Amino acid sequence: MRVPLLDLSEQYRALSEEIRAAIDEVLASQRFILGPKLEEFEKAAAAYCAAPYGVGVSSGTDALLAVLMALEIGLGDAVITPAYSFFATGGCVARVGATPVFIDIDPDTYNISAKALKRYIEKYCHQVEGKLVNENRQIVVALIPVHLFGLCCEMSEMLAIAREHNLLLIEDAAQAIGAEYPLDRGPAKAGTMGDAGCFSFYPSKNLGAAGDAGLVVCRNEQFADRLRICRQHGMEARYQHQFIGGNFRLDELQAAILKVKLPRLDHWSASRREAAMFYTNEFRRVRLEGKIRLPVEPYAKSGLTNHHIYHQYVIRSSQRDELRQHLAGREIETAVYYPLALHEQPCFEYLGYKPGDFPEAERAARESLALPIYPEISREAQQYVVKCVAEFF
Ligand SMILES: Cc1ncc(COP(=O)(O)O)c(C=O)c1O
Repeated sequence: MRVPLLDLSEQYRALSEEIRAAIDEVLASQRFILGPKLEEFEKAAAAYCAAPYGVGVSSGTDALLAVLMALEIGLGDAVITPAYSFFATGGCVARVGATPVFIDIDPDTYNISAKALKRYIEKYCHQVEGKLVNENRQIVVALIPVHLFGLCCEMSEMLAIAREHNLLLIEDAAQAIGAEYPLDRGPAKAGTMGDAGCFSFYPSKNLGAAGDAGLVVCRNEQFADRLRICRQHGMEARYQHQFIGGNFRLDELQAAILKVKLPRLDHWSASRREAAMFYTNEFRRVRLEGKIRLPVEPYAKSGLTNHHIYHQYVIRSSQRDELRQHLAGREIETAVYYPLALHEQPCFEYLGYKPGDFPEAERAARESLALPIYPEISREAQQYVVKCVAEFF
């Protein structure tokens, strides 16, 4: 039995008429850039996230980049990110000329560790005139927690740290649209707790476009306006450039497709969660829990529906590569997110980190394995995956 990592063909079949109609409408209008579909999608997506403002951009990467540029973060600034994430989180910090400062992760959730972050600040930073200055005399201006695999970071801790040290809080919610977190003041959605939230609609995401697309949500109207200017090369009046931005626009075709898909997102995330529960229960039933490490659900007791949206179902094993090969031999597709921690990437050598600096991120890069998960995955396919994992052990 062949089990792909992701198969969205059934999802498309169910929506193809609506999607084609939406595409036809855009083609008939011949309005492709900054038109009504973008506005409609921005409003709908912001409302879905319960965020006052949504600004469509060209990708999740460009969401991060536009936010950093609009906040004028650059040379001499340091920005804290987890040592384990998709490259864009650290890459965008470096692209604006700032220095990424990596922090180790929590081995259970794969998200930035609040404990490790506090340790870094205590050990290496000091306050100078209300600013946090690090060991390299850079001003630590922002913190970018990443809600990896569809699970929110410990946002109460992140918010407290950001408040105490006057840091901007930018959420990389690329993998977590709709994921909820139990703040003391009540439930909050990924991307809406900090100063800005960045989303990706890369086709494989829980909400995927038919190409690249992204979104920034925020609470501040002036900042939303600045982002809209930033996504047009910093241009407010025609050919008058107030500051340096880029071409970060989300086009009408993608916006129209995303608008059709958005109302189904919660249903798809619920189906992913059901599939995840099925895996977890089956792995426990066949007594594999000690052999592999299963995903955790730290906010399950909060009563929030989307406490985890399972963008990925990630297990861990010290025999990861052998297990992966075994599954590939049985036509089961898996993926490694990510084979290197960020400080191990050749392009970040200049930052001077050494092996062993972030042991949990390094271990996760060696041990994590994403199993097939998508809303329409059959229980039969999942049972086959569990059987083949059991067979390996
Ligand atoms: C955590 C994280 N950040 C940023 C991005 C960048 O998004 P995009 O691929 O849309 O540029 C991704 C997407 O893969 C991601 O997973």
